[in-house]
Amino acid sequence: MRNDWDGQSFPHPPGRRPLVGDVLGADPRKPLQSSLERSKGLGPIFELKIFDQKFVVVTGAELAAELADESRFEKALSPALVALREFAGAGLFTAYNDETDWALAHDLLRPAFMRDSMQRYHPVMLAAAQELFDHWDVATEPVDVSADMTKLTMETISRTAFSQDFGSFTRDEPHPFIPAMIAALRAGQRKGTLNSMPGAGLMAKRIDRRNAHHQEYVDRLLDDIIATRRASTDVDDRDLLGIMLHTPHPETGARLDDVNIRHQILTFLVAGHETTSGALSFALYYLSRDADLLARAHEEVDRILGPDRDVEPTFGQVAKFRFLRRVLDEGLRLWPTAPAYARSPRETTTLASGHVMRPQDWALVLLPAVHRDPSVWGETADEFDPDRFLPENSRGRPTQTYKPFGTGERSCIGRQFALHEAILVLARMLHRYELTYDPAYELSITERLTLMPEGFRLGLTLRTPSSSAADADEPAQPAESRTCPVSSIDQPGL
Ligand code: HEM
Repeated sequence: MRNDWDGQSFPHPPGRRPLVGDVLGADPRKPLQSSLERSKGLGPIFELKIFDQKFVVVTGAELAAELADESRFEKALSPALVALREFAGAGLFTAYNDETDWALAHDLLRPAFMRDSMQRYHPVMLAAAQELFDHWDVATEPVDVSADMTKLTMETISRTAFSQDFGSFTRDEPHPFIPAMIAALRAGQRKGTLNSMPGAGLMAKRIDRRNAHHQEYVDRLLDDIIATRRASTDVDDRDLLGIMLHTPHPETGARLDDVNIRHQILTFLVAGHETTSGALSFALYYLSRDADLLARAHEEVDRILGPDRDVEPTFGQVAKFRFLRRVLDEGLRLWPTAPAYARSPRETTTLASGHVMRPQDWALVLLPAVHRDPSVWGETADEFDPDRFLPENSRGRPTQTYKPFGTGERSCIGRQFALHEAILVLARMLHRYELTYDPAYELSITERLTLMPEGFRLGLTLRTPSSSAADADEPAQPAESRTCPVSSIDQPGL
């Protein structure tokens, strides 16, 4: 994990101190947002020294695009992902590039995120959303948007990944797996943060002792589920677990072992819920504050879904919510919920900035900064404007500069899943409810592995959709298309 860039120097925020480096002035609760603030005026690449750990951070779009060149660069594991590996092992997200299990799992699971599989997940997603709406229909107070979206996305991913219903909207207390998983995850993260501090080893041992029972509980529950399914004579490959248990690699015949399968499930749970719930929450935050945008969203959902607020979108209809998709894209531009990834060169190379980078060096691409680079997004880059993603406004935009789902072969395998789920939930929710926001609320963003609005509440009352704009005649997606319909409205440059 040494990342000394052979002693090359970079601009850094003022106030550096011997021993602690740039720690003073950083907000330990909001490290990403404080780095964003402190990066101002330092140019497209800068460094932060946290005790003896050097973080080289890229904030310029041109350099980020250079690092996206797969022929020269590849994914690196940042300290945060090395810490997550303790929890999620060699799952897809935290595997090293040369680990054979990465290629095996990637090949086995890729079909599970294509059109045919997405069609199977569609009713599961709808059913989970309906449980949330049943809960919201009787809410008498404004609802905590991020918290409820997080429950929803957790239910969706656990039901599609391993057919587990955690009963998030029916139980009074959360299923014990959820707090145990969160505690184990946070313990790993805390260890990752301490990593470069003097005495980190001792503190890590203490954290391990306090949290061992959480990790054991999580592992045991998943191992039991895997063992039960393996022992079953019913070859059910409708969910991700079934695919991993029953599908050999089409060329080599290799299979994942049970420990790796447990790590993959944990990976999907971690990578696949807060990222999407954050994206939904930011989209709702911006929509609820802007009457014009909200009216456009209502016009779209009423036109596609018609006057009955109980109607559910069909699989093919999801791709038609183009305005909602632009709202999500723009939210993920300003607040990419997985806000950074790390890149290393395959061989020693010189960056356009003049810095020499060796394979053991890595740079963090700080997406909220890259996505606001005025050379790409103009002087209004900090403003929320979904029309940036209209085809006519996207044309000519430099490629490789919008990366909310990462880049290259290690980019997000769950991207279509996330977009399908998010569009479907937004469409149903906007069709069903009038939103009332608290004008006193100022956006506050909490940081875990992901970014998420905190304390953001909306009042919800049942809505009567407009009956004048129904649009029954739009052509359906061609059935023979192999990709998810949501991908057919992808933006250029991804
Ligand atoms: C809005 C929602 C999401 C966002 C913004 C997002 C973002 C990302 C990013 C930036 C990466 C690359 C990380 C890196 O290079 O280190 C990634 C990878 C990954 N994501 Fe997502 N993600 C989302 C939803 C999902 C969902 C729903 C799933 C699962 C169903 C998922 C599963 C994964 C996995 C397994 C990887 C690792 C892929 C590999 O290295 O082979 N993500 N995601």
